[in-house]
Amino acid sequence: MTFARIAGTGGYLPERIVTNKDLEDIVDTSDEWIQERSGIKRRHIAADGETTSDMALVAARRALDSASLVADDIDLIIVATTTPDKVFPSTACIVQRLLEVKNIPAFDVHAACSGFIYALDIANRFIKTGGAKNVLIIGSETYSRILDWTDRGTCVLFGDGSGAVVLSASNNAGVISTHIHSDGEFEELLHVPAGISSGYETFQQEGAFIKMKGSEVFRRAVGTLGSIARETLEGNNVSQEDISWLVPHQANLRIIAAAAKKLGLPMEQVIVTVDEHANTSSASIPLALDVAVRDGRIKSGDLLLFEAFGAGFTWGSALVRY
Ligand code: ACO
Repeated sequence: MTFARIAGTGGYLPERIVTNKDLEDIVDTSDEWIQERSGIKRRHIAADGETTSDMALVAARRALDSASLVADDIDLIIVATTTPDKVFPSTACIVQRLLEVKNIPAFDVHAACSGFIYALDIANRFIKTGGAKNVLIIGSETYSRILDWTDRGTCVLFGDGSGAVVLSASNNAGVISTHIHSDGEFEELLHVPAGISSGYETFQQEGAFIKMKGSEVFRRAVGTLGSIARETLEGNNVSQEDISWLVPHQANLRIIAAAAKKLGLPMEQVIVTVDEHANTSSASIPLALDVAVRDGRIKSGDLLLFEAFGAGFTWGSALVRY
């Protein structure tokens, strides 16, 4: 039987760092409020002209290097993004051109902050059914371009960045299970209410920016992450004591801490990057994974639990032997 395993990881964060103090000059907020309510200290913001695909390319090259592969070894590219370079072509096709690989499928997945888990689920199925041997999965986002920089309720929470993983065919189960869900009922709690087929005039005249009912999203995120973690552990007959590391989507330190508490995991076993990166949406899990692999915390053989929650609502998890 063929399984998928993580063969390499890579990450990229834009050079420019914006601290909470910097934001005090833009909106009526304080470093103290942002840290206390979200755990965020700073975020990276893309340079003028720096795109989702530019960042994805760097993360992808780093992941390929760490997997000791070259771009030609890749037979599928999936980019998870909510902030694509263009309406079309897909950002995955742009990355394919930049990597100079031809004749392989490349497509985007749009599931907001759960995008990386959705992409991992798809890539795992391709590998298990023999449709691909080495899949490049990238979560890449320029949320700074869809933030209303006058709305203190959202602009302090997000950052830009890109994280990538190479998933390769293996005789041993790396990806043990993936779980994805959605519920379109809650669209209005977290959305960008302007697009192409709807709200296009708003898009043209005022731009397209995130609107969020933060405290309601918070409540649902905590409840949902608790149930997806239970579903994942019970589905695999695994106890929380078997988990080496929780690698959660990085939206808010309080959400992460509540999820860890529900799982019975101490914070020492949770990878946290939200303080340094803020919420980078679909990039946040692969970025956090890459940080912890490179600093030596995550080691070969560790059992990892990924979990995410985002707009849609979408949510998902994965149990992975690294
Ligand atoms: N600085 C100072 N005060 C602020 C700020 C700010 N940046 N933002 C809001 N406030 C004020 C509010 O106006 C409110 O004031 P009021 O009581 O006078 O009306 C007060 O702070 C409390 O606001 P709440 O929204 O109730 O604060 P809360 O404790 O819920 O924290 C937060 C807000 C951080 C947004 C939290 O609700 C949260 O993290 N929500 C979930 C975000 C998330 O997980 N999103 C999903 C992923 S994103 C994606 O999929 C794209």
